[in-house]
Amino acid sequence: MNRHEARLLRRGNPWLYALLRASLLAPPIGRVPRVGWLVTDPVLARRVLNDHGNFSMSGEGGVGHMWGQLFGPEMADLFDGATHTKVRTAARDLFTEQAAAELVERAQGAHYRRLTERLSAGEDVDLAAETRVLAGRLVADLLGLKLGSRDDAYAELFSVGERLASLALGTTSSTELPRHKIEEAEALAGRLTAAVPDAYATAGHDTVLGRCREMGFSLDLSRGLATLLAIAGTETGASGTSRTVALLHDSGQHRLLLEDPSLMPNAVREGLRVSTPAPVIGRHVAGDVTVSGKRLRRGERVMVLTYRANNGAGPFDITRDYIPDTRQLWFGAGRHLCLGAAVARTQVMRMLETLSEAGRPWRIVSREPARRVLVPAYRSLIVRPG
Ligand code: HEM
Repeated sequence: MNRHEARLLRRGNPWLYALLRASLLAPPIGRVPRVGWLVTDPVLARRVLNDHGNFSMSGEGGVGHMWGQLFGPEMADLFDGATHTKVRTAARDLFTEQAAAELVERAQGAHYRRLTERLSAGEDVDLAAETRVLAGRLVADLLGLKLGSRDDAYAELFSVGERLASLALGTTSSTELPRHKIEEAEALAGRLTAAVPDAYATAGHDTVLGRCREMGFSLDLSRGLATLLAIAGTETGASGTSRTVALLHDSGQHRLLLEDPSLMPNAVREGLRVSTPAPVIGRHVAGDVTVSGKRLRRGERVMVLTYRANNGAGPFDITRDYIPDTRQLWFGAGRHLCLGAAVARTQVMRMLETLSEAGRPWRIVSREPARRVLVPAYRSLIVRPG
């Protein structure tokens, strides 16, 4: 882990940082008192994430357990079984490579072009702040929310989502939320989804809320889904983008990318592998099962340390080939494999292209990690054109 990444993880989530450090010597799968089973090996990680019968999202230990407490059992149903399949099938065409390219251009294209102009004019740019606005714009467009033209509204969407997600900090020994956290979460979700009723009533077929209405989902469930998407699609995307920029810079490989733009797909893949913005994936053990000789009991919980599993292959290197063992574990695996994977890759690529278009090797002149956030990220990352 390079020193900037280490500082970022420590500031963002000290507990996670300690866990990742301790897991350096951990076996591929092992049990830790009060935490549960830890999986650090990429092949075992995929085995767990693909075994939907024995590992679930909805019970204690899975993210669906927390969402169920916030938005009711109807919301918890969205994470497993037939409802999950129905929603994914209905939304699939909004997330193809082609749809992702169109979405990113529609929601963010003008913003990237303005950034290129600013960089070409020699201006310093805080890329972390830009990624927050860009992420807000993307999710608002995808949902069909009308938030106007000002950047502030999208930065605010991001920040409320970030605060809501940070309530999950401290759920490591249990995903059972205390009453005060539920109340705080409800207030934040209310702010986050203030524009949802209007979008639910009027948004078109090419938006998620339009699809919710067409599928006959209640407004409440649609609000829950919008909140989920606003969280799933913002922090991870912003973190992955600015950290990829930083990793390119810190390894000196931004120069290599300028010389050989054909390395772009590798740069995006390596940035997401090494940063792994979703560093842990939790699951509930739904049935007694043996994994690599270890007996896991129903009711226990598993934490798949994707950060560790992905980083075992070595440091950031844009000349590195595709790694068959990890595949794209930074997006998870199995039926919950990130729906926004193509969108996320496209965003990172557009940001790297924006920096390259300014023409000269840029550099990072200062940076500050975000404190106490679920997804470790830069609070600021100041880039100066060459
Ligand atoms: C670099 C950016 C991103 C990363 C690293 C990432 C990572 C992940 C991971 C690991 C999961 C699986 C969680 C689990 O199995 O418990 C997931 C699920 C999901 N992601 Fe992403 N994500 C990113 C960006 C996005 C974006 C931009 C969107 C939407 C525009 C999005 C939407 C979703 C959705 C809807 C799910 C739930 C899928 C399901 O349960 O079927 N993600 N993401």
